[in-house]
Amino acid sequence: MAFTLTPEREREVDDILTRYPERRAALLPVLWLCQRQHGWISPEVVEYVSNRLDVSTAIVKGVVTFYTMFFDHPVGENIVWVCRTLSCDLRGGKAIQEHLESRLGCGAGHTSSDGKFTLLKAECLAACGQAPMIQINDHYYEDLDVDRLDQIIDACAADGSEAAAAKFATFATIGEPMRSSASSAPPPPTEEAVRLASQPPPSREDS
Ligand code: FES
Repeated sequence: MAFTLTPEREREVDDILTRYPERRAALLPVLWLCQRQHGWISPEVVEYVSNRLDVSTAIVKGVVTFYTMFFDHPVGENIVWVCRTLSCDLRGGKAIQEHLESRLGCGAGHTSSDGKFTLLKAECLAACGQAPMIQINDHYYEDLDVDRLDQIIDACAADGSEAAAAKFATFATIGEPMRSSASSAPPPPTEEAVRLASQPPPSREDS
């Protein structure tokens, strides 16, 4: 069956098209809108985008397969990216991945049997200071241990990822930080640091 966007999203496409000199330049945001609605970029979506933006299906498929955030196959309701780059690995990223695999009953690159979660490995997601961390859909969860991870997965499975994010996420990939993570709050200055900061800088003659 042919793919169509909702009338509201069609209006969004119209609006996006006004921002670019050529229709094909709108490929990424239009694909993103489609994936938001459909969950993945199916052959019918490729056909729709090709017609809407007047580009070949080969170009659309090339873009979809180039970017890791687009899926050319069905995925779970929630995409769980587990960061496995150095800072996260030094702080337990491997254990986080192993715990997720055991909790979800699937390895990285696969989807849980209930279709709720797809587990994927990610390279550094730019939250190294709060390692180890994961991203679920549009939200970051930082300073993780397995207990907190279980709470997050439970909340996602029971109430959906937005409700889990409202409770546990530290950062939204679009928008403002949601709350400070435990390790992001700087420690209070020591008395010695305060004393040194209050002294005038040494003059050339002193050195
Ligand atoms: S290494 Fe995990 S966020 Fe940078």
